[in-house]
Amino acid sequence: MRQIIYLNGEYLNRDDAKISIMDRGFLFGDGVYELIPIYKSKPFLINKHLQRLKSSLELVGMRADSEVIESLEEIMFELISKNKYVDHFFYVHITRGYQSSRNHIYPSDIEPTVLVMGEEYKVFSKEKLENGFKGCVREDFRWMKSNIKSISLLGNVMLKNHAAQNGFYETLLVRNKKLTEGSASNIFVVRKGQVMTPNLGVEILPVVTRDLLIELFRDNNIEVQETDVTENDLLCSEEVWCTSSTNYCVPITEIDNKKIGDGKVGNYSYRSYDLITKFISTL
Ligand code: PDD
Repeated sequence: MRQIIYLNGEYLNRDDAKISIMDRGFLFGDGVYELIPIYKSKPFLINKHLQRLKSSLELVGMRADSEVIESLEEIMFELISKNKYVDHFFYVHITRGYQSSRNHIYPSDIEPTVLVMGEEYKVFSKEKLENGFKGCVREDFRWMKSNIKSISLLGNVMLKNHAAQNGFYETLLVRNKKLTEGSASNIFVVRKGQVMTPNLGVEILPVVTRDLLIELFRDNNIEVQETDVTENDLLCSEEVWCTSSTNYCVPITEIDNKKIGDGKVGNYSYRSYDLITKFISTL
């Protein structure tokens, strides 16, 4: 299907959009991104996503207050209207830009490359969650700036593909015997009846779905501890689930072929799915 995207000031057919091989995003993975759900033709929690995008830009030394960054919301509404998006996703990709020679050092006056395009992801239905999903644990070997939503995703790509190639849904990452996040998601754990999720810091993405879920749980008098979650907590837990914008609750009922709790999807996982679905339906 013909799809209109935004690239550097122009609205183009997706198949006609081109960037230079000298773009630093292509040569160095030098850039940041956001993935924003669209529900009922509106970008979901847009301020939170734009805030995180600006934080990523600042953390890599790119301008977060340029005209194009300030007009991203307008661009998204224009694309929703041109493509008639109802429930969809936006992928926003900003690289440091074009430079005429390959050089680690970038000039101070470089113009960013800005791409906004629609993407479709398969969101799981409640029925699809009923059997639970399998996860595996791997050492988190990524860099210590995972709070930046960087387009350099090789570590995440390798870890997610390890899961996919071995029949798992997600790779859960541990560093120094502590849970950080999933290769493309955040993790919640229930241990001894207590809902827990790892603290924010340089090792995890300060994520939108995680924060929304914590808020919804607290509004419903369910305590959530943002704390260190050890590998032992994870493996001895009653429930584990992953959250992300593309699939806001994916229960993990088995880790490395060992059952989590009784091996069935637990109440908190369903609660988490229901709270987010209800929140979206009231928008
Ligand atoms: N990524 N942590 C990592 C490493 C992620 O890649 C993601 C999601 C999350 C969850 O973030 P949020 O709730 O804001 O979607 C956590 C998206 C889905 C992606 O890269 O496609």
